[in-house]
Amino acid sequence: MAATDSSKNMAAFLDKPGTPFAVREAPMPTPAAHELVLRVHSVAINPTDYFRAAQGRDVPEDSYPYVIGCDGAGVVHSVGNDVGHFNVGDRTMAMSTEFFVHKADHGMFQRYVVIDGRHACKIPDRLSFDEACVSPLAMATAAGALFEKESMDLNWPRLAGTSEFGEQQKTHANDVVVVWGGSSSVGCCAIQMLKAAGYRVVATASKRNFDLCTQAGAEAVFDYNDEECIDRVCKWVEQRGLQSAGAFPVVIDPSSFEKCAAIAKRLPGRKYVTTTLPRGLLPKPNLGEGIGVGDCLVLQQADLLEHLWSKYMPDALRSGELKCLPPAEFVGRGLESVQGACDLMSKGVSGKKLVVSGI
Ligand SMILES: NC(=O)c1ccc[n+]([C@@H]2O[C@H](COP(=O)([O-])OP(=O)(O)OC[C@H]3O[C@@H](n4cnc5c(N)ncnc54)[C@H](OP(=O)(O)O)[C@@H]3O)[C@@H](O)[C@H]2O)c1
Repeated sequence: MAATDSSKNMAAFLDKPGTPFAVREAPMPTPAAHELVLRVHSVAINPTDYFRAAQGRDVPEDSYPYVIGCDGAGVVHSVGNDVGHFNVGDRTMAMSTEFFVHKADHGMFQRYVVIDGRHACKIPDRLSFDEACVSPLAMATAAGALFEKESMDLNWPRLAGTSEFGEQQKTHANDVVVVWGGSSSVGCCAIQMLKAAGYRVVATASKRNFDLCTQAGAEAVFDYNDEECIDRVCKWVEQRGLQSAGAFPVVIDPSSFEKCAAIAKRLPGRKYVTTTLPRGLLPKPNLGEGIGVGDCLVLQQADLLEHLWSKYMPDALRSGELKCLPPAEFVGRGLESVQGACDLMSKGVSGKKLVVSGI
């Protein structure tokens, strides 16, 4: 059902697990003190969206009708009393915290959504909502895996040209992080933030996405479909006299995890592998003696949250150092198109993010 009155809230509801989204009017939300309400214009589709829509995963049984959706961009509509750094009218990208708070008014697949003010960032005018909505969850996921204390605990990304960045760059000139799955959304964000933290980055991807990984900042890219990929990655590092700072198998499958462990074992330096899941949910929680394993879901560490969303991301988007990658692919207009977009996502994507605009 298309709504012409854009002052009304409309949402793509899940009435039960496994049923298609039903678009209808939803209550107009109000923000609590630490929240804002975003008038959403564009949403991006993540792998988790189609899993959750199809299976009802992580949706409490008594919460239906429910609204999911992680990534969006739009304009701030109202602001809670404790959210000092946003004003009504600010162009903003945001990540939903619906999967932490289990509230339908926090799911992104609606026109007016409640956002925790710590998970949102202003965007420059030259960035369209379609471009901007691809990044929030992927940035937070990559940051959680790479920079949280309980995970890889690497140095944080900084703006180039600052003294902090210069020091980090010197310190990590010989430290390589391997991003296995660099053309994924999380992979593109990981590569960019690692470069901005002063590390050297080697990525893996299918050949068609080598340029994407290079554009993000990888110094070398290898085809993970090649049986000799592990050897090629290791030789690249060894021949330059560099060492490992850790390996990040972005796409969660046992094979990527084991291959990253094999790389970390062979290379000199830090023997550590981290992915995008809490340790208890990993396909192989133990990789054997001597290999550290990160523990992460999405970014939650308070000081890092503030650094990422309120400092690094807005500044780096403005300066152009941080790009919204992989590129958005427009797949439909209006909340009615969210179902088709999730169906497309269920077939997998390669080096792009599916976006629905005109919400
Ligand atoms: N913990 C969380 O809250 C959270 C949040 C977001 C994502 N995740 C997880 O993080 C992973 C990445 O998510 P995403 O949104 O970034 O995924 P995505 O963009 O949908 O991933 C697509 C990419 O994955 C790459 N890929 C597929 N199989 C691969 C393999 N075996 N090895 C290396 N690369 C492979 C493909 O590369 P090519 O096309 O180049 O072959 C493709 O470009 C997913 O497993 C997702 O479930 C977790």
